[in-house]
Amino acid sequence: MPDNVILVGFMGAGKSTVGRLVARRLGRCFVETDDMITAQEGRSIPEIFAERGEAHFRALEDEAVALLALKHGDVIATGGGLPCHEGRAEALRALGTVVWLSGDFDSLYARALAAGERPMLAGRRRDEVQALYESRVPYYRRAHVIVDTAGLGADQVAARVCQALRGREREAS
Ligand code: S3P
Repeated sequence: MPDNVILVGFMGAGKSTVGRLVARRLGRCFVETDDMITAQEGRSIPEIFAERGEAHFRALEDEAVALLALKHGDVIATGGGLPCHEGRAEALRALGTVVWLSGDFDSLYARALAAGERPMLAGRRRDEVQALYESRVPYYRRAHVIVDTAGLGADQVAARVCQALRGREREAS
């Protein structure tokens, strides 16, 4: 099995920041599915949503997942909705170790709002975003490893991810 590390989790979980830190600690390359999509399309994520709609964006995610099969040993941050479609969680599990950066909804929501530019938040009330979050949790749970980010800074989360990966390596050997 390719030994990538794949970070999943809701918007605001810190997948990009933590992913970069984990990649640096492990001496690996860092890749983001959202970057793969924007590079391919030549447009930002909000532009893709505004001009082509969510369904088109999800189809682009499918293409990005197919391309991830070429990756080996990378740290990969996925968009918050990427694993939450039929077959995607399994496709990610086949690529390496899937790590869910979990957290309490209030903190995730506050961080996601503060970072701005998230089309899935636009026009949705807080309770609607919470319902979206809850509908996604069963997909995130299919990760191999869960790291609870509550109350932790990005460095601490990255350290926990590395620790969990070492634990899995020990178990496997
Ligand atoms: C999305 C999350 C975003 C991005 C897109 C859709 C989602 O990524 O892929 O806006 O459906 O939750 P982040 O999780 O990095 O914000």
